[in-house]
Amino acid sequence: GITRHYKFDVKLHNVTRLCHTRSIVSVNGQFPGPRIVAREGDQLLIKVVNHVPNNVSIHWHGIRQLRSGWADGPAYVTQCPIQNGQSYVYNFTIIGQRGTLFWHAHISWLRATLYGPIIILPKRGIPYPFAKPYKEVPIVFGEWFNADPEVVISQALQTGGGPNVSDAYTINGLPGPLYNCSAKDTFKMKVKPGKTYLLRLVNAALNDELFFSIANHTLTVVDVDAVYVKPFKTETLLITPGQTTNVILKTKPSYPNATFFMTARPYVTGQGTFDNSTVAGILEYESPPNSLHSSIMLPLLKPILPALNDTSFATKFGSKLRSLASAQYPANVPQKHNQTCQGPNGTKFAASVNNVSFTMPTTALLQAHFFGQSNGVYTPDFPSSPTIPFNYTGTQPNNTMVINGTKVVVLPFNTSVELVMQDTNILGAESHPLHLHGFNFFVVGQGFGNFDPNKDHAKFNLIDPIERNTVGVPSGGWVAIRFLADNPGVWFMHCHLEVHTSWGLKMAWIVLDGELPTQKLLPPPADLPKC
Ligand code: C2O
Repeated sequence: GITRHYKFDVKLHNVTRLCHTRSIVSVNGQFPGPRIVAREGDQLLIKVVNHVPNNVSIHWHGIRQLRSGWADGPAYVTQCPIQNGQSYVYNFTIIGQRGTLFWHAHISWLRATLYGPIIILPKRGIPYPFAKPYKEVPIVFGEWFNADPEVVISQALQTGGGPNVSDAYTINGLPGPLYNCSAKDTFKMKVKPGKTYLLRLVNAALNDELFFSIANHTLTVVDVDAVYVKPFKTETLLITPGQTTNVILKTKPSYPNATFFMTARPYVTGQGTFDNSTVAGILEYESPPNSLHSSIMLPLLKPILPALNDTSFATKFGSKLRSLASAQYPANVPQKHNQTCQGPNGTKFAASVNNVSFTMPTTALLQAHFFGQSNGVYTPDFPSSPTIPFNYTGTQPNNTMVINGTKVVVLPFNTSVELVMQDTNILGAESHPLHLHGFNFFVVGQGFGNFDPNKDHAKFNLIDPIERNTVGVPSGGWVAIRFLADNPGVWFMHCHLEVHTSWGLKMAWIVLDGELPTQKLLPPPADLPKC
């Protein structure tokens, strides 16, 4: 691999959407931010310079960060934030991953405007396990707020209510023609007939899982979270915040001057308010040269998306995702069973895992761990199961008690972890896209109702389970994952719905060093920010 250098200047910059102009925190004056392109095996040196009053940190979402935990980015977990006037060089190497990931701010709600795609090409000379596409196009979903998202969340936390919802969803920063005062801000993708395009989809939205479809076209899913999958065709796909999906779009043999909508709108299972709107972009076929039909415009077709709460679509879509499990791309599912049962529970004022609502420390957990200064920063007593067992899917909650604390799980190097994440039903069932830093995990099972260890273990898929970094805990159900704790450091795990993270649906794992030098976390870089 080679070394690639990037410079991210975090600055304020005026952006107008929906006829509202706002000074947003952005990278290099771009919204969405710049794309990072690298190959598997490359080293990245990304210098982030903070020119804004806000504290900033950037997370390279889905990058495994083997031994380089100092570059992971969540504020107060692996680093103190970069303060105004300071800079920090994120230094990491991409090992064993290729596909699409993304980067985003990892402090407060700054990721509303600070995000961009990471495109990881295979090593030189190694082909994709599918035909080489004619072109590759990143499609990044986001959410636009007319108000400052930092104000939106801080007001919500002060009043204890739900935050105001966003004013639009966006494709590559553009809300599209279905919103008022927005037609000129429409993402347009020009295509030629009879070609294949690789769409690199990223859901960088703050708070909504999204359905996505292109009218009259079928998509072939080939990769999720930078892991190849067994290809399958679908009209519509579901992508949660924190997930990335590569799909192949084969254009029609000929459609001169035809245009089609591509749209995304939310999949909603909770009971709070949400942004029930649709972002649209346009797929536009180029007309053939000297076309006699150049004046014929077919009507703009809109795709049909599933109902807002179509959990059965979500379940079916999830079960179609399978690892390649081939000789070249094996599915090495850890076999040991160290079971921890988690109950993310959403309440109005707090969200928790195993009844612990996580409190952010004021110094970075990784520093405290590395220098043996955990005193007053965290406690290694995260409960291995909910402190008060109850019927998770019962309608009458009998357990709404949460403890506040910075409680972590400590794992010896190479522990095989099996984790069952159970949705609870405190204020109604809700799907939670849980994201784990530092690892890919295998999704070995999922179901509705309460997880039953006696019955459900037998049904696990240990042959070709999907491998990824973010998975939707089904609304009113559970999902079981396994991962091998082979990456020393401190690793955050949280719901990628930002509002749930703000309410405490987050926790951290500490993975201890192994015996060999190659199994130890490297020492921190000299420019690591101080709190
Ligand atoms: Cu993309 Cu901790 O998150």
